Amino acid sequence: MANLRIKSIDALLSLDETKKLTKQLGALDLVFLGIGGIVGTGIFVLTGVAASTYSGPALIISFLMCGFACSLAALTYAELASMVPVAGSAYTYTYATMGEVLAWIMGWNLVLEYAVSAAAVASGWSGYFTGIFKTLGYPLPDMLTKVPQDGGLINLPAVLIALFVTYMLYVGIRDSARLNNILVVVKLAALALFLALASPAVEPTNWEPFMPFGFSGVAAGAAIVFFAFFGFDAVSTAAEETKNPKRDLPIGIIGSLAVCTVLYMAVGIVLTGVAPYTELNNPEPVAYALRSIGYNFGSALVAVGAIAGMTTVLIVFIYGQTRIFFVMSRDGLLPDALSKLHPKYRTPHIVTWLTGIGVALVGGFINLGVIAELANIGTMFAFIMVSAGVMVLRKTRPDLKRAFVCPAVWIVGPLAILSVGYLMFNLPQATWIRFLVWTAIGVVVYLAYGRNRSPLKAQ
Ligand code: ALA
Repeated sequence: MANLRIKSIDALLSLDETKKLTKQLGALDLVFLGIGGIVGTGIFVLTGVAASTYSGPALIISFLMCGFACSLAALTYAELASMVPVAGSAYTYTYATMGEVLAWIMGWNLVLEYAVSAAAVASGWSGYFTGIFKTLGYPLPDMLTKVPQDGGLINLPAVLIALFVTYMLYVGIRDSARLNNILVVVKLAALALFLALASPAVEPTNWEPFMPFGFSGVAAGAAIVFFAFFGFDAVSTAAEETKNPKRDLPIGIIGSLAVCTVLYMAVGIVLTGVAPYTELNNPEPVAYALRSIGYNFGSALVAVGAIAGMTTVLIVFIYGQTRIFFVMSRDGLLPDALSKLHPKYRTPHIVTWLTGIGVALVGGFINLGVIAELANIGTMFAFIMVSAGVMVLRKTRPDLKRAFVCPAVWIVGPLAILSVGYLMFNLPQATWIRFLVWTAIGVVVYLAYGRNRSPLKAQ
């Protein structure tokens, strides 16, 4: 096994002995944490893209497919998180199970899950921000709010929100649990308000035809709205701080996913019921649908809630990315400078700014659909690796203590791989090519840099 350079779990755990986190989170906190990471650009923006171009009113079937695949993947995540409760998420789990090369590829692809998703969230944020000005009668110029592919020059609001959040993380204002809880309530209230105002205006004729692009359209739509579902990994990373992980982790993960799936289905039914699906391909479909039935003020309120909600997701994802780079740098696979802490703020300032500027550039110049699909494929890859990893560890390290044991792992694991793999398979070819090019660049960087610097080199 030495040639695989597997970092032992004991080594991973001993790294963290100096930092024992207090166990203070309960099941409800975890459900909130999950919803905090899940509800964002996916439901507020991408539902419109998916409904109008792929799923049609059958958007709810796309949601069900994602809910199913993600719940299975989430169970395997929970087991690994509860046995390797250290920073670095799927990158760390892979280091412990499948060795350094795959861990590097995983870390490299987590950039797609975290930094690229953050760029998509910044872009979705901008759609609602711009929409508010439009509703107020002061539309912002297209040149400054659209990317070149959509006829503008730069998506400036996306750049500015990404840099603002980066600044907050640089000075060390991490989203506290309390702020997160308040913002979760705000974004749930925005969706509840939408449902309350729009439900009475549903026109069942808008649901016909139900599957205008056939089942293949529904599957392609599911591959897009997958973006709306991930973010629950935030729950699994809190394993170490959970009072009763055996009971509370599955409640937190499955609970937050279940709440979101049910809520998303309700939003999907009502959204496609009040506006023809053909009209939903716009930057703020949920607010648009309310405006189209005459609720201007209600639409503005929903937009404000959406903006608040997307800001929390942005914080979680940029933060997550900086921590993954931090751990990879500490492991010697990235330059040391990336794990340097700021003398005053005690934050990894260099990596924070590099990440934030990268997110701002991607969000400022690349189209949301393209970014979201790339984020999805990277995340799906991570889910598949984690599902495989949990089974590998059952065989190689049956002795390790698992605070949470994935039920029926030999059914759940393979089913997770198959269902997430099916969604991955339904992403466009262009996304696959971008993903493979990104992965190939990662392999070259590893061979040229990380391989020679790794502390495991001597093994
Ligand atoms: N699920 C998160 C969102 O939709 C990434 O914004």
